Amino acid sequence: MSTDSFEAENSEAGASPAMRPVGNRSGCPTIACSGRSRGVIARYRDFLPVNDKTPIISLGEGDTPLIYCPRLSERIGRGCDVFVKNEGVNPTGSFKDRGMTVAVSKAIERGARTLICASTGNTSASAAAYAARAGILCAVILPGGKIATGKLLQAFAYGAKIVAIAGNFDDALRIVQELGERGDFTIVNSINPDRIAGQKTAAFEIVDEIGDAPDFHLLPVGNAGNITAYWAGYREYQARQRAFPERQSNGSTKAPAMIGFQAAGAAPIFHNQIIQKPETIASAIRIGNPASWKQARAAIAESHGAIDIVSDEEIIVAQTWLARYEGIFVEPASAAAIAGLFKCCDSNEAAYSFKKIPEQSRIVCTVTGHGLKDPDAIMQRMRELKPVPATVNDVQRAIGL
Ligand code: F0G
Repeated sequence: MSTDSFEAENSEAGASPAMRPVGNRSGCPTIACSGRSRGVIARYRDFLPVNDKTPIISLGEGDTPLIYCPRLSERIGRGCDVFVKNEGVNPTGSFKDRGMTVAVSKAIERGARTLICASTGNTSASAAAYAARAGILCAVILPGGKIATGKLLQAFAYGAKIVAIAGNFDDALRIVQELGERGDFTIVNSINPDRIAGQKTAAFEIVDEIGDAPDFHLLPVGNAGNITAYWAGYREYQARQRAFPERQSNGSTKAPAMIGFQAAGAAPIFHNQIIQKPETIASAIRIGNPASWKQARAAIAESHGAIDIVSDEEIIVAQTWLARYEGIFVEPASAAAIAGLFKCCDSNEAAYSFKKIPEQSRIVCTVTGHGLKDPDAIMQRMRELKPVPATVNDVQRAIGL
Protein backbone atom coordinates (compact mmCIF):
# COMPACT_ATOMS: atom_id res chain seq x y z
CA MET A 1 0.00 0.00 0.00
CA SER A 2 1.34 3.45 -0.77
CA THR A 3 0.70 6.55 1.27
CA ASP A 4 -1.06 8.38 -1.49
CA SER A 5 -3.27 5.51 -2.59
CA PHE A 6 -6.11 6.01 -0.18
CA GLU A 7 -8.22 8.68 1.37
CA ALA A 8 -10.36 7.65 4.27
CA GLU A 9 -11.81 9.22 7.31
CA ASN A 10 -12.08 7.19 10.43
CA SER A 11 -15.80 7.70 10.72
CA GLU A 12 -16.78 4.09 11.33
CA ALA A 13 -15.72 4.08 14.94
CA GLY A 14 -19.32 4.10 16.17
CA ALA A 15 -20.46 6.12 19.15
CA SER A 16 -17.26 7.91 20.06
CA PRO A 17 -16.46 9.61 23.33
CA ALA A 18 -15.97 13.37 23.06
CA MET A 19 -12.43 14.21 21.95
CA ARG A 20 -11.09 16.31 24.74
CA PRO A 21 -7.82 16.35 26.58
CA VAL A 22 -7.61 14.20 29.64
CA GLY A 23 -7.86 16.19 32.82
CA ASN A 24 -4.83 17.34 34.72
CA ARG A 25 -4.90 14.53 37.23
CA SER A 26 -1.69 15.24 38.97
CA GLY A 27 0.56 12.29 39.52
CA CYS A 28 -2.08 9.86 38.25
CA PRO A 29 -0.32 6.93 36.60
CA THR A 30 -2.11 5.83 33.45
CA ILE A 31 -1.24 2.19 33.81
CA ALA A 32 -1.82 0.80 37.26
CA CYS A 33 -2.32 -2.94 37.48
CA SER A 34 -1.85 -4.75 40.73
CA GLY A 35 -0.47 -1.61 42.27
CA ARG A 36 2.44 -1.31 39.84
CA SER A 37 2.74 1.62 37.45
CA ARG A 38 4.45 0.99 34.17
CA GLY A 39 5.99 3.36 31.66
CA VAL A 40 9.16 5.39 31.47
CA ILE A 41 7.79 8.36 33.42
CA ALA A 42 6.77 6.15 36.34
CA ARG A 43 10.19 4.48 36.34
CA TYR A 44 12.50 7.43 35.69
CA ARG A 45 10.50 10.36 36.96
CA ASP A 46 13.50 11.99 38.70
CA PHE A 47 15.38 12.17 35.41
CA LEU A 48 12.55 13.64 33.35
CA PRO A 49 11.08 17.14 32.95
CA VAL A 50 7.80 16.28 34.70
CA ASN A 51 6.25 17.69 37.85
CA ASP A 52 3.19 17.12 40.01
CA LYS A 53 1.03 18.99 37.51
CA THR A 54 2.04 16.89 34.52
CA PRO A 55 -0.72 14.46 33.50
CA ILE A 56 0.95 11.17 32.61
CA ILE A 57 -0.02 9.97 29.16
CA SER A 58 1.38 6.46 29.02
CA LEU A 59 0.76 3.16 27.28
CA GLY A 60 3.23 1.26 29.46
CA GLU A 61 6.22 1.90 27.20
CA GLY A 62 9.85 1.02 27.98
CA ASP A 63 11.24 -1.82 30.08
CA THR A 64 12.09 -3.58 26.82
CA PRO A 65 14.18 -6.76 26.85
CA LEU A 66 17.95 -6.59 26.60
CA ILE A 67 18.54 -9.94 24.94
CA TYR A 68 21.87 -11.74 25.18
CA CYS A 69 22.68 -13.09 21.72
CA PRO A 70 24.96 -16.14 21.76
CA ARG A 71 25.41 -16.41 18.00
CA LEU A 72 26.16 -12.74 17.51
CA SER A 73 28.64 -12.97 20.40
CA GLU A 74 30.28 -15.97 18.75
CA ARG A 75 30.60 -14.00 15.54
CA ILE A 76 32.62 -11.31 17.35
CA GLY A 77 34.71 -13.80 19.34
CA ARG A 78 37.31 -12.53 21.85
CA GLY A 79 34.95 -13.44 24.68
CA CYS A 80 32.70 -10.48 23.86
CA ASP A 81 29.03 -10.39 24.82
CA VAL A 82 26.51 -8.95 22.39
CA PHE A 83 23.08 -7.84 23.59
CA VAL A 84 20.16 -6.65 21.51
CA LYS A 85 17.90 -4.00 23.04
CA ASN A 86 14.59 -4.89 21.44
CA GLU A 87 12.65 -1.66 21.13
CA GLY A 88 10.19 -3.29 18.74
CA VAL A 89 8.17 -4.51 21.70
CA ASN A 90 7.11 -1.04 22.80
CA PRO A 91 3.33 -0.34 22.65
CA THR A 92 3.33 0.86 19.04
CA GLY A 93 6.26 -1.34 18.03
CA SER A 94 9.10 1.18 18.07
CA PHE A 95 11.40 3.19 20.34
CA LYS A 96 9.45 6.35 19.57
CA ASP A 97 7.01 5.60 22.40
CA ARG A 98 9.62 6.44 25.05
CA GLY A 99 9.90 10.00 23.84
CA MET A 100 6.25 10.32 22.93
CA THR A 101 4.96 9.63 26.45
CA VAL A 102 7.02 12.59 27.71
CA ALA A 103 6.31 14.89 24.75
CA VAL A 104 2.56 14.28 24.84
CA SER A 105 2.32 14.50 28.63
CA LYS A 106 4.12 17.87 28.53
CA ALA A 107 2.02 19.03 25.59
CA ILE A 108 -1.18 18.33 27.56
CA GLU A 109 0.27 20.07 30.61
CA ARG A 110 0.84 23.17 28.44
CA GLY A 111 -2.70 23.03 27.07
CA ALA A 112 -1.98 21.69 23.57
CA ARG A 113 -4.99 20.85 21.39
CA THR A 114 -3.37 19.44 18.26
CA LEU A 115 -0.13 17.55 17.75
CA ILE A 116 1.77 17.50 14.49
CA CYS A 117 4.75 15.56 13.19
CA ALA A 118 6.61 14.73 10.03
CA SER A 119 7.49 11.08 9.82
CA THR A 120 8.95 8.19 7.93
CA GLY A 121 6.28 6.13 9.73
CA ASN A 122 7.12 5.23 13.30
CA THR A 123 6.88 8.69 14.82
CA SER A 124 3.46 9.10 13.21
CA ALA A 125 2.24 5.75 14.58
CA SER A 126 3.45 6.65 18.06
CA ALA A 127 2.19 10.25 18.01
CA ALA A 128 -1.22 9.07 16.78
CA ALA A 129 -1.49 6.49 19.57
CA TYR A 130 -0.49 8.85 22.38
CA ALA A 131 -2.75 11.61 20.99
CA ALA A 132 -5.63 9.12 21.02
CA ARG A 133 -4.76 8.17 24.57
CA ALA A 134 -4.66 11.86 25.56
CA GLY A 135 -7.88 12.69 23.71
CA ILE A 136 -6.43 15.29 21.34
CA LEU A 137 -6.00 15.51 17.60
CA CYS A 138 -2.88 14.53 15.72
CA ALA A 139 -1.85 15.48 12.20
CA VAL A 140 0.86 13.42 10.54
CA ILE A 141 2.71 14.66 7.46
CA LEU A 142 4.26 11.83 5.47
CA PRO A 143 6.31 11.39 2.30
CA GLY A 144 3.76 10.08 -0.21
CA GLY A 145 4.20 6.45 -1.22
CA LYS A 146 7.18 5.90 1.09
CA ILE A 147 5.65 4.72 4.34
CA ALA A 148 5.75 1.04 5.32
CA THR A 149 2.34 -0.61 5.29
CA GLY A 150 2.09 -1.45 8.98
CA LYS A 151 3.01 2.06 10.11
CA LEU A 152 0.47 3.71 7.86
CA LEU A 153 -2.22 1.33 9.12
CA GLN A 154 -1.34 2.26 12.68
CA ALA A 155 -1.72 6.01 12.12
CA PHE A 156 -5.07 5.36 10.46
CA ALA A 157 -6.29 3.01 13.20
CA TYR A 158 -5.40 5.51 15.93
CA GLY A 159 -7.44 8.15 14.11
CA ALA A 160 -4.75 10.60 13.00
CA LYS A 161 -5.31 13.10 10.22
CA ILE A 162 -2.92 11.75 7.61
CA VAL A 163 -1.49 14.09 4.97
CA ALA A 164 0.78 12.63 2.29
CA ILE A 165 3.00 15.13 0.48
CA ALA A 166 4.68 14.99 -2.89
CA GLY A 167 8.09 15.23 -1.27
CA ASN A 168 10.41 13.42 1.12
CA PHE A 169 10.76 13.40 4.92
CA ASP A 170 13.01 16.46 4.89
CA ASP A 171 10.29 18.44 3.04
CA ALA A 172 7.68 17.19 5.52
CA LEU A 173 9.77 18.30 8.50
CA ARG A 174 10.33 21.74 6.97
CA ILE A 175 6.57 22.20 6.58
CA VAL A 176 5.89 20.94 10.10
CA GLN A 177 8.43 23.39 11.55
CA GLU A 178 6.75 26.28 9.75
CA LEU A 179 3.31 25.23 10.95
CA GLY A 180 4.66 24.83 14.48
CA GLU A 181 5.95 28.40 14.47
CA ARG A 182 2.44 29.68 13.82
CA GLY A 183 1.37 28.34 17.19
CA ASP A 184 -1.58 26.14 16.16
CA PHE A 185 0.26 22.87 16.61
CA THR A 186 2.62 21.23 19.07
CA ILE A 187 5.46 19.53 17.22
CA VAL A 188 6.30 16.06 18.52
CA ASN A 189 9.26 15.31 16.29
CA SER A 190 12.58 14.77 18.01
CA ILE A 191 13.37 18.49 17.64
CA ASN A 192 11.05 18.70 20.67
CA PRO A 193 13.46 18.27 23.64
CA ASP A 194 10.84 16.32 25.62
CA ARG A 195 11.15 13.54 23.05
CA ILE A 196 14.91 13.30 23.56
CA ALA A 197 14.42 13.34 27.33
CA GLY A 198 12.09 10.35 27.13
CA GLN A 199 14.28 8.42 24.72
CA LYS A 200 17.35 8.67 26.94
CA THR A 201 15.63 6.24 29.35
CA ALA A 202 16.68 3.38 27.07
CA ALA A 203 20.30 4.04 28.08
CA PHE A 204 19.26 4.08 31.74
CA GLU A 205 17.56 0.69 31.37
CA ILE A 206 20.66 -0.84 29.81
CA VAL A 207 22.92 0.39 32.61
CA ASP A 208 20.43 -0.65 35.29
CA GLU A 209 20.25 -4.13 33.76
CA ILE A 210 23.91 -4.93 33.15
CA GLY A 211 25.23 -2.93 36.10
CA ASP A 212 27.30 -0.49 34.07
CA ALA A 213 27.38 1.06 30.61
CA PRO A 214 28.44 -1.25 27.77
CA ASP A 215 31.73 -0.64 25.92
CA PHE A 216 30.10 -0.14 22.54
CA HIS A 217 26.62 0.90 21.49
CA LEU A 218 25.50 0.41 17.89
CA LEU A 219 22.31 1.85 16.42
CA PRO A 220 20.74 3.04 13.17
CA VAL A 221 20.74 6.78 12.46
CA GLY A 222 18.07 8.69 10.56
CA ASN A 223 17.02 12.08 11.89
CA ALA A 224 19.71 11.49 14.56
CA GLY A 225 17.50 12.04 17.62
CA ASN A 226 18.05 8.59 19.07
CA ILE A 227 21.86 8.61 19.05
CA THR A 228 21.61 12.06 20.67
CA ALA A 229 19.23 10.73 23.33
CA TYR A 230 21.25 7.62 24.18
CA TRP A 231 24.39 9.67 24.55
CA ALA A 232 22.59 12.14 26.84
CA GLY A 233 21.35 9.20 28.93
CA TYR A 234 24.75 7.57 29.26
CA ARG A 235 26.37 10.89 30.15
CA GLU A 236 23.74 11.62 32.75
CA TYR A 237 24.22 8.25 34.46
CA GLN A 238 27.98 8.71 34.39
CA ALA A 239 27.67 12.16 35.97
CA ARG A 240 25.32 10.69 38.58
CA GLN A 241 27.86 8.05 39.49
CA ARG A 242 30.55 10.71 39.86
CA ALA A 243 28.25 12.78 42.05
CA PHE A 244 27.10 9.83 44.18
CA PRO A 245 29.87 7.21 44.03
CA GLU A 246 28.45 5.38 47.04
CA ARG A 247 25.22 4.57 45.19
CA GLN A 248 24.73 1.02 44.06
CA SER A 249 22.40 1.81 41.16
CA ASN A 250 21.33 4.68 38.90
CA GLY A 251 24.87 5.36 37.77
CA SER A 252 27.67 4.09 35.56
CA THR A 253 31.45 4.26 35.71
CA LYS A 254 31.87 4.81 31.97
CA ALA A 255 30.08 5.63 28.72
CA PRO A 256 30.18 3.56 25.54
CA ALA A 257 31.62 4.41 22.16
CA MET A 258 28.55 5.34 20.10
CA ILE A 259 28.63 3.83 16.60
CA GLY A 260 25.86 4.94 14.25
CA PHE A 261 24.88 3.42 10.91
CA GLN A 262 23.20 5.14 8.02
CA ALA A 263 21.93 3.47 4.87
CA ALA A 264 24.46 3.93 2.06
CA GLY A 265 21.94 5.84 -0.11
CA ALA A 266 20.87 8.12 2.74
CA ALA A 267 24.07 8.96 4.58
CA PRO A 268 24.41 12.73 5.03
CA ILE A 269 26.35 12.56 8.31
CA PHE A 270 28.78 9.98 6.93
CA HIS A 271 29.40 12.02 3.76
CA ASN A 272 29.21 15.32 5.62
CA GLN A 273 26.76 16.75 3.12
CA ILE A 274 23.00 17.04 2.65
CA ILE A 275 21.65 14.28 0.42
CA GLN A 276 18.93 15.80 -1.78
CA LYS A 277 17.38 12.51 -2.89
CA PRO A 278 18.00 9.91 -0.19
CA GLU A 279 17.16 6.33 -1.20
CA THR A 280 17.11 3.10 0.76
CA ILE A 281 14.95 0.08 1.37
CA ALA A 282 15.08 1.04 5.06
CA SER A 283 12.39 3.70 4.63
CA ALA A 284 12.49 4.69 8.33
CA ILE A 285 15.96 6.18 7.88
CA ARG A 286 15.47 7.60 4.40
CA ILE A 287 16.55 11.08 5.49
CA GLY A 288 18.91 13.48 3.73
CA ASN A 289 19.16 16.36 6.20
CA PRO A 290 18.88 15.14 9.81
CA ALA A 291 17.57 17.63 12.37
CA SER A 292 19.99 16.49 15.10
CA TRP A 293 23.02 16.30 12.81
CA LYS A 294 25.27 18.44 15.04
CA GLN A 295 24.25 16.62 18.23
CA ALA A 296 24.96 13.27 16.56
CA ARG A 297 28.39 14.46 15.50
CA ALA A 298 29.07 15.61 19.06
CA ALA A 299 27.94 12.25 20.51
CA ILE A 300 30.23 10.39 18.12
CA ALA A 301 33.22 12.66 18.78
CA GLU A 302 32.81 12.81 22.57
CA SER A 303 32.31 9.05 22.86
CA HIS A 304 35.20 8.26 20.49
CA GLY A 305 32.74 6.36 18.33
CA ALA A 306 32.08 6.45 14.60
CA ILE A 307 29.51 6.88 11.86
CA ASP A 308 29.43 4.32 9.07
CA ILE A 309 27.25 3.13 6.21
CA VAL A 310 25.65 -0.19 5.30
CA SER A 311 24.17 -1.14 1.93
CA ASP A 312 20.56 -2.21 1.39
CA GLU A 313 21.80 -5.74 0.61
CA GLU A 314 23.69 -5.87 3.90
CA ILE A 315 20.59 -4.61 5.72
CA ILE A 316 18.40 -7.38 4.28
CA VAL A 317 20.99 -10.06 5.01
CA ALA A 318 21.23 -8.83 8.61
CA GLN A 319 17.44 -8.69 9.01
CA THR A 320 17.12 -12.30 7.87
CA TRP A 321 20.10 -13.44 9.95
CA LEU A 322 18.79 -11.91 13.17
CA ALA A 323 15.37 -13.48 12.66
CA ARG A 324 16.74 -16.93 11.78
CA TYR A 325 19.59 -17.22 14.25
CA GLU A 326 18.47 -15.15 17.23
CA GLY A 327 14.68 -15.22 16.82
CA ILE A 328 14.36 -11.44 16.68
CA PHE A 329 12.39 -10.02 13.74
CA VAL A 330 13.05 -6.35 13.12
CA GLU A 331 12.28 -3.85 10.41
CA PRO A 332 14.98 -3.05 7.82
CA ALA A 333 16.09 0.23 9.45
CA SER A 334 16.70 -1.62 12.71
CA ALA A 335 18.70 -4.29 10.92
CA ALA A 336 21.16 -1.53 9.94
CA ALA A 337 22.60 -1.84 13.47
CA ILE A 338 23.17 -5.57 12.97
CA ALA A 339 24.55 -5.08 9.46
CA GLY A 340 26.84 -2.52 11.07
CA LEU A 341 27.98 -5.02 13.69
CA PHE A 342 28.87 -7.49 10.93
CA LYS A 343 30.77 -4.76 9.11
CA CYS A 344 32.75 -3.90 12.26
CA CYS A 345 33.70 -7.60 12.56
CA ASP A 346 34.36 -8.51 8.95
CA SER A 347 35.23 -5.54 6.78
CA ASN A 348 38.54 -3.80 6.30
CA GLU A 349 36.57 -0.72 5.34
CA ALA A 350 34.72 -0.43 8.64
CA ALA A 351 34.88 3.01 10.22
CA TYR A 352 35.32 1.15 13.53
CA SER A 353 36.96 -2.27 13.38
CA PHE A 354 36.12 -4.83 16.07
CA LYS A 355 39.02 -7.06 15.11
CA LYS A 356 41.16 -5.80 17.97
CA ILE A 357 38.66 -4.59 20.55
CA PRO A 358 39.45 -5.53 24.16
CA GLU A 359 38.53 -9.08 25.14
CA GLN A 360 35.21 -9.48 26.94
CA SER A 361 33.86 -6.19 25.65
CA ARG A 362 30.16 -5.68 26.07
CA ILE A 363 28.32 -4.56 22.97
CA VAL A 364 24.70 -3.41 22.77
CA CYS A 365 22.83 -3.07 19.48
CA THR A 366 19.51 -1.24 19.57
CA VAL A 367 16.92 -2.62 17.20
CA THR A 368 14.42 0.16 16.86
CA GLY A 369 11.23 -1.23 15.30
CA HIS A 370 9.27 -4.46 14.91
CA GLY A 371 9.58 -6.47 11.70
CA LEU A 372 5.82 -6.71 11.19
CA LYS A 373 5.62 -2.98 10.55
CA ASP A 374 7.43 -3.24 7.24
CA PRO A 375 6.82 -6.69 5.76
CA ASP A 376 7.15 -5.81 2.06
CA ALA A 377 10.80 -6.77 1.50
CA ILE A 378 10.36 -10.14 3.23
CA MET A 379 7.04 -10.77 1.51
CA GLN A 380 8.64 -10.44 -1.91
CA ARG A 381 10.87 -13.37 -1.09
CA MET A 382 8.05 -15.63 0.12
CA ARG A 383 6.83 -18.24 -2.30
CA GLU A 384 3.12 -18.72 -2.75
CA LEU A 385 1.86 -21.45 -0.41
CA LYS A 386 0.07 -24.21 -2.32
CA PRO A 387 -2.14 -26.28 0.02
CA VAL A 388 -1.33 -30.02 0.15
CA PRO A 389 -4.00 -32.67 0.81
CA ALA A 390 -5.02 -32.72 4.47
CA THR A 391 -3.38 -36.04 5.41
CA VAL A 392 -0.54 -36.81 7.79
CA ASN A 393 1.47 -38.41 4.97
CA ASP A 394 1.15 -35.44 2.63
CA VAL A 395 2.06 -33.00 5.38
CA GLN A 396 5.10 -35.08 6.38
CA ARG A 397 6.24 -35.26 2.77
CA ALA A 398 5.77 -31.48 2.42
CA ILE A 399 7.90 -30.87 5.52
CA GLY A 400 10.57 -32.92 3.77
CA LEU A 401 11.75 -34.96 6.76
N1 F0G B 1 14.90 3.09 13.27
C1 F0G B 1 13.60 3.25 13.05
C2 F0G B 1 12.74 2.04 13.00
C3 F0G B 1 13.06 4.56 12.90
O1 F0G B 1 11.77 4.70 12.69
C4 F0G B 1 13.93 5.66 12.93
C5 F0G B 1 13.42 7.02 12.75
C6 F0G B 1 15.29 5.42 13.18
C7 F0G B 1 15.74 4.13 13.34
C8 F0G B 1 16.28 6.52 13.28
O2 F0G B 1 16.14 7.22 14.47
O3 F0G B 1 15.69 9.45 13.52
O4 F0G B 1 16.30 9.16 15.91
O5 F0G B 1 17.98 8.79 14.12
N2 F0G B 1 12.25 7.28 12.40
C9 F0G B 1 11.67 8.64 12.33
C10 F0G B 1 10.19 8.54 12.07
C11 F0G B 1 12.41 9.55 11.46
O6 F0G B 1 9.61 9.49 11.51
O7 F0G B 1 9.57 7.57 12.44
P1 F0G B 1 16.56 8.75 14.52
